[in-house]
Amino acid sequence: MSSSTFGALLCSVILSFSTTLVNAGHYSLTQDYSGAKFFEGFNFSTIPDPTQGFVTYIDQSAANSTGLAGMLTVNGSETGAVYLGVDSTTKLSTSGPGRNSHRAQTNQTWNHALVIADISHTPGGICGTWPAFWMLGTSSEWPNAGEIDIIEGVNSQNFNAMTLHTNAGVEVQNNTNLFKGTLTTSDCNVADPNQPTNQGCNIADSPNADSFGKVFNANGGGVFATEWTSDFIKIWFFNRTHIPANVLSSSPSPSSSWGTPNALFQPANNTIDSHFSDLQLIFDTTMCGQWAGQAWTTDAECSKLAPTCDQYVAENPAAFKDAYWAINSLKVFQDQGAPAYGSGNGTQGR
Ligand SMILES: *[C@@H]1O[C@H](CO)[C@@H](O)[C@H](O)[C@H]1NC(C)=O
Ligand SMILES: *[C@@H]1O[C@H](CO)[C@@H](O)[C@H](O)[C@H]1NC(C)=O
Ligand SMILES: *[C@@H]1O[C@H](CO)[C@@H](O)[C@H](O)[C@H]1NC(C)=O
Ligand SMILES: *[C@@H]1O[C@H](CO)[C@@H](O)[C@H](O)[C@H]1NC(C)=O
Ligand SMILES: *[C@@H]1O[C@H](CO)[C@@H](O)[C@H](O)[C@H]1NC(C)=O
Ligand SMILES: *[C@@H]1O[C@H](CO)[C@@H](O)[C@H](O)[C@H]1NC(C)=O
Ligand SMILES: *[C@@H]1O[C@H](CO)[C@@H](O)[C@H](O)[C@H]1NC(C)=O
Ligand SMILES: *[C@@H]1O[C@H](CO)[C@@H](O)[C@H](O)[C@H]1NC(C)=O
Repeated sequence: MSSSTFGALLCSVILSFSTTLVNAGHYSLTQDYSGAKFFEGFNFSTIPDPTQGFVTYIDQSAANSTGLAGMLTVNGSETGAVYLGVDSTTKLSTSGPGRNSHRAQTNQTWNHALVIADISHTPGGICGTWPAFWMLGTSSEWPNAGEIDIIEGVNSQNFNAMTLHTNAGVEVQNNTNLFKGTLTTSDCNVADPNQPTNQGCNIADSPNADSFGKVFNANGGGVFATEWTSDFIKIWFFNRTHIPANVLSSSPSPSSSWGTPNALFQPANNTIDSHFSDLQLIFDTTMCGQWAGQAWTTDAECSKLAPTCDQYVAENPAAFKDAYWAINSLKVFQDQGAPAYGSGNGTQGR
């Protein structure tokens, strides 16, 4: 190869590389589910809860007409935030059916995204509840298309649990100086024989107690930002007083001044794209079931209230008045410089 050919080649390599550099990490708004738009983009599923919770998921019009879903009002005025609550007036039989609640999910799916949710109140920290804000791949049997749990917890838990669920092949690194939480399990494979069944890889946002439950609500919540790329899945929580300016202005730049994320899930061998595809967004509030129900007896605060989780939830409707989500805004951004992948290519709003 002559040196001039080599120079030209090198030049074009540098040019295309720098184009990529300029575009990488440049996020553009692709979906906005804030305010009333939430109810256009989310469907209220009426499936039986797959985790056997003591709930009845009701559809959107039933939720709306019974005051379980709509715009949050404070002192009679709408605030602009979305309200998703549960029935807090009906006494039920412990044998069911379970308490009326919601499982709202997008029909839109994504491959790679930056999801930014400003949430002022969650149903967390209340005995019997198991709320979650999460992303789920439904294109094949669980967990083959992956699951990202952004906000999750049960009963009196006072810190957020962030978790990935996959089939075999995704093990995340414990680079403790690169995230604020604590990695409790590293294998995202739900069938890892050395971890509890269905556990996945989990980062407990402990001791950052302001990211879930009563303290979160008392502080007026904050912003959760989830960045999903081929290399990693990061989750930041910013409390009300520490939301980056470029988040507030809807031109988010994770690589700017966002600081250490609360969670970093990063496999050493690039296995994210082969295990996460076509994820939808979901808000739900279930009760008891496979996690809150099973953890009932080991929760010192809750187990005092009733012998079983189902009995407590059935007999104490008023305990769930505060079991609601208040979502100030929800926006999805995508990196216009990064290549798309997966089966959902044409439907990503690109
Ligand atoms: C029902 O939906 C309408 C908008 O479609 C909303 O204005 C109203 O607040 C909702 N109802 C309740 C009880 O939240
Ligand atoms: C709602 O009304 C109560 C009682 O009048 C008052 O203390 C409170 O500040 C009001 N809240 C808002 C957000 O206006
Ligand atoms: C709700 O679900 C129906 C049936 O699956 C689908 O046709 C519709 O597009 C969905 N709507 C939204 C807003 O996701
Ligand atoms: C979206 O709606 C279509 C049409 O109803 C349905 O077949 C598909 O399963 C839905 N996808 C998700 C992720 O809900
Ligand atoms: C990646 O690493 C995990 C955990 O060590 C392993 O199970 C998996 O087979 C590896 N995958 C590839 C594609 O190298
Ligand atoms: C990760 O490292 C931290 C700090 O050393 C430790 O507490 C934690 O148990 C480790 N997690 C795993 C899954 O090994
Ligand atoms: C909000 O977050 C900042 C930065 O992490 C922290 O210094 C501050 O104590 C937090 N405020 C509250 C009320 O927790
Ligand atoms: C998605 O995009 C990739 C890369 O351009 C392409 O190889 C693949 O065939 C596309 N998939 C679909 C379903 O269009």
